Amino acid sequence: MENNLPVNIREYQELAKKALSKMHYDYINGGAEDEHTLRDNIAAYGRILLRPRVLVDVSNIDMSTSLLGYNMPSPIIVAPTGSHNSKPRREVATAKAAASCNSLMVLSFSSNCRIEEVAASCDAIRFYQLYVFKKRAVSATLVRRAESNGFKAIVLTVDNPMLGRRERDIRNKMVAPAKPNLEGLISLENLDTTDGSQLVKYVRDTMDPSLSWKDVEWLKSITSLPILLKGILTAEDARKAVEAGVAGVIVSNHGGRQLDYAPATISVLEEVVKAVAGAVPVLVDGGIRRGTDVLKALALGARGVMVGRPVMYGLAARGEAGAKHVIEMLNRELELAMALCGCRSLAEITRDRVQTEGDRI
Ligand code: FNR
Repeated sequence: MENNLPVNIREYQELAKKALSKMHYDYINGGAEDEHTLRDNIAAYGRILLRPRVLVDVSNIDMSTSLLGYNMPSPIIVAPTGSHNSKPRREVATAKAAASCNSLMVLSFSSNCRIEEVAASCDAIRFYQLYVFKKRAVSATLVRRAESNGFKAIVLTVDNPMLGRRERDIRNKMVAPAKPNLEGLISLENLDTTDGSQLVKYVRDTMDPSLSWKDVEWLKSITSLPILLKGILTAEDARKAVEAGVAGVIVSNHGGRQLDYAPATISVLEEVVKAVAGAVPVLVDGGIRRGTDVLKALALGARGVMVGRPVMYGLAARGEAGAKHVIEMLNRELELAMALCGCRSLAEITRDRVQTEGDRI
């Protein structure tokens, strides 16, 4: 078995497809409507080339960095993704995989495991991803539970006042069961009451389409944890986020699952980084499948990157060991990419190491 381990993320994706039901694979892998953004998140990395410098002594590569004062051995972070269904431990398996690589994990609100269970499973620095619900008290309770279970920051996802139209899920008649089970996809384990409705209905009933900057203020008023905004794609909103006093900005289009024809995240990263002007760290997610992608994102100004589907592929294919292997593989790929580009530390991954489409005009 060990000799037949996947050698890249694409191979993990193939294994995941074999391991999962069509409904589940489509749920993980799909995007909104024409899936243009989903595809372009990946394709856009292919349009950025590297500018390696040679004859640099790269016998020691240091990938360490920090975020909000927490040290990290690498800039690769586990993105919040809903409903980890690896048998039997679900998000606990992911949390253990991340912890064994000392990687930061952002636990999704739509977790199949309770916040307390993940927190108790292993020691690690973790952030908690939150949605603002129509009933603010529900969100407030989740924040309190995240705080009392040692989560270090709140990642507020702001790109889904309504659910994107995911046609694969519609075609598959995907359901959101009331309680997690090994077949169920979306679990509402961290809500105290639910009627087990379909995902779209559930989101319509609970997510608040009136979500606005006032809610960021409200969230700040109920927690002393730092808040990162996930789902920023423009300089205008990046500036507003800084004005609102957030601790970080995450350039994200929800992995192409919300607004189709939103730009590929890597293509707007630099715009956001310039607007933020160093006031807070900027992270990016969407389409990262290689260590070279991470290097490109860092060269364009990201402090770190988050990976969503790759970890889910690993988990689906080989449980905790698969998720761990995916994180390790991306770390090793980044290390090699840095060496071959002549970068000994993340600080040396400067803008001149990449050539974007704009640079070629
Ligand atoms: C997500 N994502 C997500 N984001 C979030 O803030 N809360 C959530 O519960 C989820 N759930 C979720 C489920 C699944 C199956 C996927 C694929 C994604 C979005 C996620 O955090 C991240 O933005 C993207 O996954 C990044 O793109 P890649 O790495 O999957 O290409």
